[in-house]
Amino acid sequence: MLKGKTALITGAGRGIGRAIALELARAGVNIAVNDYNVPNETVELVRNEGVRSQGYGADVSDFQAVSQMVEQIVQDFGGIDILINNAGISPKHDGRKHHLYEMDPAEWQKVVDINLNGAFYCTRYVAPIMMANKWGRIVNLGSMAARVFSPVAGIHYCATKAGVLGLTRVSAGELAPYNILVNAIAPGRIDSEMTRAAGEEANKAILSTIPLNKYGTVEDVAKTVKFLVSEENGYIVGAVIDINGGRAML
Ligand SMILES: NC(=O)c1ccc[n+]([C@@H]2O[C@H](COP(=O)([O-])OP(=O)(O)OC[C@H]3O[C@@H](n4cnc5c(N)ncnc54)[C@H](O)[C@@H]3O)[C@@H](O)[C@H]2O)c1
Repeated sequence: MLKGKTALITGAGRGIGRAIALELARAGVNIAVNDYNVPNETVELVRNEGVRSQGYGADVSDFQAVSQMVEQIVQDFGGIDILINNAGISPKHDGRKHHLYEMDPAEWQKVVDINLNGAFYCTRYVAPIMMANKWGRIVNLGSMAARVFSPVAGIHYCATKAGVLGLTRVSAGELAPYNILVNAIAPGRIDSEMTRAAGEEANKAILSTIPLNKYGTVEDVAKTVKFLVSEENGYIVGAVIDINGGRAML
């Protein structure tokens, strides 16, 4: 039963994170909504679904801020049952990635700090709470770009998302004995502000490579996440679920 559980969703001020927040809220889950700044709009939308919700402005790449946020959520909600490591960035310059030979090391570092370290810090501080409860569900946002070469995503993005898949496997193996199921999803092209930043031309070229002939929606992703965190999933552990319209069949 998802009803009455509490989920922390990072980077849920918009896009996929917000859609996951709303999908889980419809199943009766109380939602701690994180983003850089307090994500009031998402909180309002979630509350409209009839569950408790609170916003937490914290940069997931700052481990002290993450630790404080987790403590505050436990005080506010009494615990954390579900963690969705969703916050992520994919820097573009006039709609295109910088190739590895032109990339500013500071940009590389920032993406590592947010996409990889952020997921680790949140898992690191939330896991002990779930372990004490002997129940938990964690879903990490990987990407198709972690699994096949991407002409549009930078080397930092692809490397960190591949790192997220590694982080998923170790978390899954170490936490499964505590009845905490950890999995990753690997979305392909999902229509969101992040992918729109790549520009129309690049997105059209990608569309022609998708057998289903359409982009995914944030709801497509949210529904898969809901399944993974629900009691319907009793035995999927450490998996990477591709959500890509057939663009990469692995
Ligand atoms: N859209 C896609 O096609 C796609 C495909 C594969 C994977 N993903 C992954 O899904 C996740 C969500 O993507 P999206 O398309 O909704 O992106 P988005 O850019 O629309 O939303 C990302 C959210 O994360 C927040 N965020 C970024 N850095 C943060 C930080 N340090 N601390 C807290 N919040 C932070 C942003 O403010 C934003 O609200 C990302 O991890 C992304 O890499 C997206």
